[in-house]
Formats: sequence, structure tokens, C-alpha cells
Amino acid sequence: MDIIGEEEKQELLEVIESGYLYRYGNTDDPKFKAKVWNLERSFANKLGSKYGLAVNSGTSALLTSLWALGISPGDEVIVPGYTFIASITSIIFARGIPVLAEVDKTLTLDPMDVKRKISSKTKAIMLVHMLGNPGHIDEIKQIAEDYDLIFIEDCAQALGATYKGKSVGTYGDMGAFSLNVYKTITAGDGGMVITDDEKLYERAFAIHDQGHLPLRQGVEQGKRTILGLNFRMNELTAAVANAQLNKLDKIKTKLAQNKSLLKNRLKETEEIEFREILDKEGDAGTLLTFFMPSKKSAIKLAKKLNCVRISESGWHVYNNMEHLLGKMTVTDEKCPFVCPLHDIGEVDYEKGMLPQTDDLLERGINISVGVSDPGLGSAFGVKINSTEQEIIDAAETLKRAIKSSL
Ligand SMILES: Cc1ncc(COP(=O)(O)O)c(C=O)c1O
Repeated sequence: MDIIGEEEKQELLEVIESGYLYRYGNTDDPKFKAKVWNLERSFANKLGSKYGLAVNSGTSALLTSLWALGISPGDEVIVPGYTFIASITSIIFARGIPVLAEVDKTLTLDPMDVKRKISSKTKAIMLVHMLGNPGHIDEIKQIAEDYDLIFIEDCAQALGATYKGKSVGTYGDMGAFSLNVYKTITAGDGGMVITDDEKLYERAFAIHDQGHLPLRQGVEQGKRTILGLNFRMNELTAAVANAQLNKLDKIKTKLAQNKSLLKNRLKETEEIEFREILDKEGDAGTLLTFFMPSKKSAIKLAKKLNCVRISESGWHVYNNMEHLLGKMTVTDEKCPFVCPLHDIGEVDYEKGMLPQTDDLLERGINISVGVSDPGLGSAFGVKINSTEQEIIDAAETLKRAIKSSL
């Protein structure tokens, strides 16, 4: 949000002056700039994927991917208990069953628990690259191959993150991204899907636009093979997203500088344990996360910093998803229409069902480096445009607060 400026304004003006607000326009008219189409190509190119599809949110990107991949009623999809609720709800609305698994010190899926959660109904694993940091891609990909499972990457919080030199989202069968205001780049709202598989791309395109083939002209009656809905992105959103995408490298460099300055200053604070980062070059750098030695000290620290522990950061912790917890059945009022879990009976999601995740999150603190999201508990920290002195001051405040909370 802090880097929205002249470039976004110019891109938007082009769309408004062209009169083409819809993703489809007259390609013979030089005024039509095809912003959505260009975004799709440049996003895919930048990340090293064959196909990109723009949609209207990260949630739509996940749902479109799950449908394209053929998740069907009763299929189990393993997903971490620490994630934004959309990772879980998209599975439910695809009529699958989310099976919650533990996270480890990376705060992403623990491969050992994933293996434990595999059953005869398991169809897919959704790895969520939480807080800008790539998860155990090699291990999860291997498990998916060994058990013949689909591998989906939820990269909503990790645009800019790479693993072994390749962008997140390019390892799985499909990768989903979000462009909402709490992400590395933003267009207000919006989402992107990437895949290397032409068939999956065509299916995803059809799902996002009433069954049509990519780049349809007009109605294309007679050519539609599957039913779809409308998750289209419009030209205005794509205009902002294009300008933001051009700034991604600059944003990542600045976040890395901020983060290493902040982290280096905390190096001598031996009482805290930093979150495990599996690929130091690959971290998107949006947040700095660490664990306090005890729940008690973490409570004290959060109070001093005027933030909350990760376990209290409402939206992203399964324990706090009151609309998910408890039994989900056909008669359940939490599902206002036909309950997506209707076909498979009752499923229990209980508070405390993931003790390893609970322990880490109860001791975990998120410090903002460039993304300050109350939903992540990261009210304390620095901004992308903070000066060196401001970052040093924040680190000193943090150090003192940690020492006095032990
Ligand atoms: C991990 C994760 N998945 C999915 C989403 C959904 O994205 P959107 O808000 O764009 O629908 C988010 C958004 O916060 C997220 O953090």
C-alpha cells in the first residue's frame, strides 16, 4: 500500500480513457490495452510458469484450482491448521473434506504429520507458504508423488518467495496467489492462478468464465465443454496489478534489507528462537517471526508491543475459526444452503486438536517488515519505507521488550 503511486495512476488512466473496462475488448482497436491478458502473461513469465490466469481474489484462485484439478465430493485434502480460512473453505466449497495437519517451526505443513494424515480418501495436499516463507516443497512434493496425490500451493502470502531459485507456485500442479491489501503487491483485491499444464489452464479458464475457452470472442456457443462461474478480473484491477508487478523486485530487495537489519540487531537475543527459514534467499521478507521461550513470556511481550501472539491473531488459526469448529452436518446452521459436507456425514474440528501447532503459535510473535496485518498479529514493526534509523530504533525497542518479558 505504501508504494502505490504514479505508475498505478498512469495504468489506470489508460484504461479509463480507452473505455474498455472489461477483460474482453476489440483487439483491432489500439485503444484496447488488454490489461488482464498482459498481466496473465507477465505474471506467468516472471514466475517461470507456462500459464497465468487472473481472477477476482485469492479465494477464487484456490477454488478455481481445486475444481480444475477435479477435487470431488468426499475427497480429503490435507491443509495446515495455521492458515487463512480461505484455504480451508475453498476445499469445503469444492465439496472436499479439509483434513487439518500440524505446522512445524517453519509455520508451514509438517511433512511428518502430513504422512500421518493420509488415508484411502486423500486426494490432495495443499501446502500454504505462510508469512512469505516457502514451506517444505521437496518433502511435500515427494509425498505427493509417493502416494499419487495432487499437490496444490497456496501462495497467497508468498508472492516474491522462491525455493531453490524457482518461484513458489511452480512446484505444484497449480499455484494460487492473492492481490489483496495485505500481500507483497496489491490491486485492492484480486488473485492469480499459475500452472504448466495446458489442460488444467483451459479448465481453470472455463471455470472462471462460464465455461468459455481462453480468450473467447463473443459467446462461443457450441464450444463450451464444462460449466463455470464468473471469477473474472477487470481491466482496472489488472492495470494496478501490472504496475505493482513491475515493482516486485524492488519491493523484495527493500524488504530483504529491512528484515536483515532488524534480524541482525536481534542476533544476540539468544532467548528467542527465529522461525525456521528453509531457503534464506527465497524468503519474501514480509514478516519477521520468532518464538518466545514460554507462553507466559510471549503474553508479556505482546502486551508490551501492543500486538497479539500468533495464537490470538484471529483469522489464521484453526482454534479461532468458530464457524468451522464443531460438527459440520447437513442440518448445521453454519452452512446456510446445502452443506458442502452433506455427502460425507459428520466431521469434527476441535479446539486443541493440533497440539504442536498450538504450542508454536502460543509462543509465536509476528513483527511487520512490510506487511502490517492485524489478522496476522503484526501490529508492531516497520514499514517498507522505514528509514534505517527507524528500523534500528524498532529493533532496540523490541530487544528491550523481549529482555523485560523473560
Ligand atoms: C494463506 C491465504 N490463502 C488464501 C487467501 C485468500 O485471499 P483473498 O483474500 O485474496 O481471497 C489469503 C488471504 O489473506 C491467505 O492469506
